[in-house]
Amino acid sequence: MSLPWTILVTGGAGFIGSHTCVELLDYGYEVVVVDNHANSSPEALARVQKVAGRPLAAVYTIDVRDRAALTEVFERHPVDAVIHFAAHKAVGESVELPIDYYDNNVGGTTALLAVMNAHGVHRLVFSSSCSLYGNAERIPITEQSPAAPTNPYASTKWMCEQVLTDVCRHRPDLQAFSLRYFNPVGAHPSALLGEDPLGIPSNVMPYLAQVAIGRREKISVFGDDWPTHDGTGVRDYIHVMDVAEGHRIALEHLDEVRGVRALNLATGVGTSVLELVAAFRRASGRPIPYEITARRPGDVARLIADPGEIERAWGWRATRTLDQMCGDVWRFQLDNPVGYQA
Ligand code: NAD
Ligand code: WQD
Repeated sequence: MSLPWTILVTGGAGFIGSHTCVELLDYGYEVVVVDNHANSSPEALARVQKVAGRPLAAVYTIDVRDRAALTEVFERHPVDAVIHFAAHKAVGESVELPIDYYDNNVGGTTALLAVMNAHGVHRLVFSSSCSLYGNAERIPITEQSPAAPTNPYASTKWMCEQVLTDVCRHRPDLQAFSLRYFNPVGAHPSALLGEDPLGIPSNVMPYLAQVAIGRREKISVFGDDWPTHDGTGVRDYIHVMDVAEGHRIALEHLDEVRGVRALNLATGVGTSVLELVAAFRRASGRPIPYEITARRPGDVARLIADPGEIERAWGWRATRTLDQMCGDVWRFQLDNPVGYQA
């Protein structure tokens, strides 16, 4: 297949999707976006084009489960590969709304695979998650660590991986990476794109940013009695631009894959909540009050990846530092105090 490839990006208006669209436009790809804006604003796509200085080939406000609408997209565009971000992703909400989560995340993936199949499209990069490892016994976590999802959201991601494995058995031409992201944070260095959660953020980084800007009084640190070096939860944070770059590199390596290959997308560096608070203070120059509260149900002490397999496969690794992650989030927050709503 000769360049430029046309890439269909589902969920392209979301946090990771929008940054990935910029990366793809920067590298000359033609990009078609499908998003129903269940958790995003169309403004994100206006900004994608502004940052990249190039237009998206097309944008469709449709639900990936709508096979008829998706079929039209595949009929209009010569899709060479698909990056499938579209999904619901809130762990707590998935416990309340399991049917919605299975319907959207698994149903969206099977609909997409059916339409890809009908149009002979065989290249896919799928958004998976470290959450499928559950409470991993061994740290660092390799791709061989067992899957043990502990909530419906994580189960949907594991189930989608199993669907992909079974579909590949039936359809040997399918070439797919399932990228298991650890904790993506950060923002585009232009400060035009970032994470814009609706309502009260459930993830630590956007919450910290809102405390720093004065939208929230203080952050609750969920437990200081974990078996970690300072008692607070340790995670493997990765800059969203490294995640975006990882998707572009994945596209370049898709033709080497047979079937589906799962890869951790992470840095391998663990950071505690208190270390993150300190880094955000450095980045913002703001005090960032916090209080120690009870553990959050379902949390685990440490989630740190072994990122070696991706490096061996692609000769690539995530390079951006925690200070860059916090600095970019802070600049986005300063320039967009109420996100994309302004
Ligand atoms: P996000 O909510 O910002 O983006 C998801 C996008 O998909 C949104 O724009 C939403 O409107 C869209 N969408 C959802 N359901 C849809 C549907 N049925 N049809 C069309 N569009 C739909 O989330 P994100 O953080 O950018 O995550 C992207 C992907 O990465 C998701 O699959 C998520 O599960 C996965 N992931 C995210 C993280 C994280 O911490 N952000 C970690 C691991 C994996
Ligand atoms: C990080 C750390 C909290 C908020 C989630 C999903 C996972 C994946 C990545 C999608 C933990 C602590 C948090 C707060 C805190 N997403 N914390 N105060 O839970 O590691 O992972 O995002 O696939 O599936 O579960 O991320 O940002 O919520 O928490 O102390 O207000 O910060 O206890 O140690 P998590 P998080």
